[in-house]
Amino acid sequence: MTDSLFRRKPIVPERQEGHQLARTLGWPHLIALGVGAIVGTGILTLIGVGADKAGPAVIMSFGIAGLICACAALAYAEMATMIPASGSAYTYSYVVIGELIAWVVGWSLILEYSLVVSAVAVGWSGYAAPLLQAWAGVPMALMQGPELGGIVNLPAIAIIAVVAGLLLVGTRESATVNAVLVLVKIVALVVFVAVALPAFNAANLEPFSPYGFAKHIGPDGVERGVMAAAAIIFFAFYGFDAIATAAEETRNPDRDLKIGIVGSMVACVAIYIAVAVAAVGAIAYTRFANSPEPLALILRELGSPLAAQYLAVSAIVALPTVILAFFYGQSRIFFTMARDGLLPASLATLSSRGTPVRITIFTALVVAVLAGFIPLGELAALANAGTLAAFTAVSICMLIMRRRAPDAPRTFRAPLPWVIGSIAVLGCIYLFFSLPEKTQLWFLVWNVGGLGVYFLYARRNAVVG
Ligand code: ALA
Repeated sequence: MTDSLFRRKPIVPERQEGHQLARTLGWPHLIALGVGAIVGTGILTLIGVGADKAGPAVIMSFGIAGLICACAALAYAEMATMIPASGSAYTYSYVVIGELIAWVVGWSLILEYSLVVSAVAVGWSGYAAPLLQAWAGVPMALMQGPELGGIVNLPAIAIIAVVAGLLLVGTRESATVNAVLVLVKIVALVVFVAVALPAFNAANLEPFSPYGFAKHIGPDGVERGVMAAAAIIFFAFYGFDAIATAAEETRNPDRDLKIGIVGSMVACVAIYIAVAVAAVGAIAYTRFANSPEPLALILRELGSPLAAQYLAVSAIVALPTVILAFFYGQSRIFFTMARDGLLPASLATLSSRGTPVRITIFTALVVAVLAGFIPLGELAALANAGTLAAFTAVSICMLIMRRRAPDAPRTFRAPLPWVIGSIAVLGCIYLFFSLPEKTQLWFLVWNVGGLGVYFLYARRNAVVG
């Protein structure tokens, strides 16, 4: 009985009749899905939270989080081309390590994807609320959660409803809409760098690291340091894993996943470092620290209100792409776990358009309630915890498979696997312990609850192929 906790799925998971997803996506869709999922509230909003925690050394935080994420992305790319099936980190863990760990990873992915959807919806609402108030007279109390003195965050709930509708229309259409909107936010960030970088003043970088490196609790009770900032900024870098969840819907998974994951990761690291250097060099970090719209604020302070407005409107138009990509990933994780019997199979029923309708609607209801009432910072930190758990597992999977099956086919092989894998595993663990303690505790609570579901339901109903 005990060894069943470690039973593994075969490398090509068996599928049940009528439960396959349609193969409609190519690599341009995947890069759009990747960049669409990566560039969002992290660079647009959490850069201010990071600056508050690390000062100008937030540039380092970006570098550290980016490096760790890039190493994890390489491990992901290898695993995704080795096991091109729906479910990403959950499926890799099931194939490589065993059911119990796969369950914990899947349960953590549910946390990650749900909370990213909620967090970005709240971030979107932060930009949209001032316009809704000015144009439609909507009272602020209906556009902020209780933490900020409001009643409920209705715009956040509304945007989740819109994105859920897009997904129900079908994957292909949603990914194409997504591709257009990705361009909008890339152009907005390029405009930001073009306006802010010429104002670079080295004096703004002094003192460079006022709060030191490791996480520590300051006199005001706030956790600070370069690593504390990196643990939050980490939010800005992930999303490429949403591509891996689309593996089963990709026409040519070997080539397309490789190009999609590595390509979108490299592009985002480059853009972020440019934005961070431009932001910190342009004005003193204390002026935009913790702002709900730091990049727009910097542009205004530099005397470019039009560029600021353009950036704000772009954020409102384009942030839904992030919600879309994570929502998509979330419904696929549910779908795959249900197909494996770990969650009720009725959840895995597909519509004639190949969309898992029930899961999409169920997810929408849950994340909308969270977005309506919980503040952004807490949602983002807890999403990071779930992501770090999944990234650690994937990196370990890559290392195990290098040893267990070094010659098994995988069209992408991470370079220097032991170096890359070690940086990813140790880096993710260090980032996890650099998160606020409250977040670590909630993560524990979530997974204890998850283990309860596993032992009461999932373990007995699993249909390992
Ligand atoms: N990387 C995504 C964002 O920053 C989650 O919004």
